[in-house]
Amino acid sequence: MNMARITASVYTSHVPAIGAAMDMGKTKEDYWKPLFAGYDFSKQWMKDNKPDVVFLVYNDHATAFSLDVIPTFAIGTAAEYKPADEGWGPRPVPVVKGHPELASHIAQSVIQQDFDLTIVNKMDVDHGLTVPLSLMVGELDPAKDAWPCPVIPFAVNVVQYPIPSGQRCFNLGQAIRKAVESFDEDLNVHIWGTGGMSHQLQGARAGLINREWDNAWLDKLINDPVACAQIPHIDYVREAGSEGIELVMWLIARGAMADVNNGQVTGKLPKVTHRFYHVPASNTAVGHAILENA
Ligand code: DHB
Ligand code: FE
Repeated sequence: MNMARITASVYTSHVPAIGAAMDMGKTKEDYWKPLFAGYDFSKQWMKDNKPDVVFLVYNDHATAFSLDVIPTFAIGTAAEYKPADEGWGPRPVPVVKGHPELASHIAQSVIQQDFDLTIVNKMDVDHGLTVPLSLMVGELDPAKDAWPCPVIPFAVNVVQYPIPSGQRCFNLGQAIRKAVESFDEDLNVHIWGTGGMSHQLQGARAGLINREWDNAWLDKLINDPVACAQIPHIDYVREAGSEGIELVMWLIARGAMADVNNGQVTGKLPKVTHRFYHVPASNTAVGHAILENA
């Protein structure tokens, strides 16, 4: 029987300065070298395990969605997405090609599973989406290169309260996996959870980083995702800073892994293919992991 499958999940931070460092040829500078070294393995892994589609969970930073309209969960069903102009011109990276057929199927299935998604037929994608792609793929020339596969952008509101709980995100990941597995084409799908880890960009605690909490949280995400999903917003904000709340998006990807069924871990935990943590990158603690279904 033909069927699409999620085989792996990727987690990574999305700091805009990382995109700028790549676009301006600064990756070999002392400040950036150790950060990019953590992704050498990942770029090779992407080549060796090239997905047919990436389902990329990210957040828009008031770029495609202004504060006029704020969808909680938005799925991109378009054929392509242009890199957004975030104030310094669009990043010089290829246009992101979508997968309208699979995206529409997932929208249909996930909405029928009672998650009310917003359907987006046209939008630009900001650093929340393009920086994770650049980290996992490397530098490309937009004039002659393309991203290795189609991408389905899935935007989560983590910018303006009220934002979804970790539990809601975890449950949604399970619904996304069901949706993917009911698509009758043999497709290898990777799901990415992006944003985080600890950072706070404004206020009295600007610059906050919490290495101990980040690493304990990542342990929990990997080994006890059911408990991780129960962590309330206030813990993220207190321990990982106001923007650390972006981490709830990682729970969508984790909930889509094969060990999770009906809200419990019933299968074998995924294999930790790669894990990396680095401070500093701009104002953010960069976390990264690759999990493959056991
Ligand atoms: C930074 C991090 C972010 O997640 C973001 O969206 C913007 C800036 C930073 O560390 O500079
Ligand atoms: Fe951000």
